[in-house]
Amino acid sequence: MKNQMESHIMEIESVLAKYLPKEEGMAKTVISAMNYSVNAGGKRLRPMLMLETYRLFGGTGAAVEPFAAAIEMIHTYSLVHDDLPAMDNDEYRRGKKTTWMAYGEAMAVLAGDALLNYAFETALKAFECEEADAKRISHALSILAEKAGIYGMIGGQTADIEAEAGEVDLPRLLYIHEHKTAALIQASMMIGAALAGADNEALSSIEKAAYEIGVAFQIQDDILDVTSTFEKLGKPIGSDAKNNKTTYVTLKGLEEASREQKDMSNHAVNLLKSLNNRGYKNDFLIDLIESLITRLK
Ligand code: IPE
Ligand code: IPE
Ligand code: MG
Ligand code: MG
Ligand code: MG
Repeated sequence: MKNQMESHIMEIESVLAKYLPKEEGMAKTVISAMNYSVNAGGKRLRPMLMLETYRLFGGTGAAVEPFAAAIEMIHTYSLVHDDLPAMDNDEYRRGKKTTWMAYGEAMAVLAGDALLNYAFETALKAFECEEADAKRISHALSILAEKAGIYGMIGGQTADIEAEAGEVDLPRLLYIHEHKTAALIQASMMIGAALAGADNEALSSIEKAAYEIGVAFQIQDDILDVTSTFEKLGKPIGSDAKNNKTTYVTLKGLEEASREQKDMSNHAVNLLKSLNNRGYKNDFLIDLIESLITRLK
């Protein structure tokens, strides 16, 4: 698994390198802030889920590559803005100074905006691929747009910020986790499926599984914010407490949060395994999702 993981990460790094903008011209500063944020590292989970879901449904062409780069750009932009003083006010990310600490707040706002826009400029390049399927690519673009927007990640971040001011019950917390985090995980897996030509029934299974993977991922993020260390995470611990966030841990306690995280992940794995009956199988995807249950960073 470890070696396999390394080669998958290398594959994604080379896709990213192909699509990141060149640091030149009058806009050089913002481009360099964009590249700094993306190249700082990270687990590359979302592009990996996209590529592996594409493979699950038998996808082979290169049209998925620009989308894999695009989802990491959108995810990175969400982190650049999430770290701003006006939001979570964090100084380290991926083991490095956050973009606003390295480039200043104005440039971090612009770098986030630029990554979001460049993600779509990049994804559109899928139309230029050999044997591009315009219908599938349009479908993938609409998934990307919706899951990143007010009915997806931005909606979740909005509720997350407003929640700092008041009481948060479980339905509201689930809305936050589903939108701020699961939406981009759903986009990743659904785009992989859509580009490979999965039918509506399969897409809806993927959307459900990715919901559980995404919420479980955010529960574990909340757990690690309490139990891990800066050295392991590359970002500060205690950020949630500092910002008066309600999390799965504050609402249910560490033990119960951990139990539910595991249950949701196992449920997602079973849902994906049930696709075996239709001939769709990808063992690495299952291993990857299972590895998230016990992740330490
Ligand atoms: C961090 O995501 C933000 C959350 C949604 C919890 P990741 O934990 O995937 O961050 P990177 O990409 O590895 O830095
Ligand atoms: C952030 O959640 C989710 C998004 C950026 C969309 P957090 O605020 O918990 O993420 P970290 O802990 O800063 O990575
Ligand atoms: Mg946040
Ligand atoms: Mg944060
Ligand atoms: Mg967090």
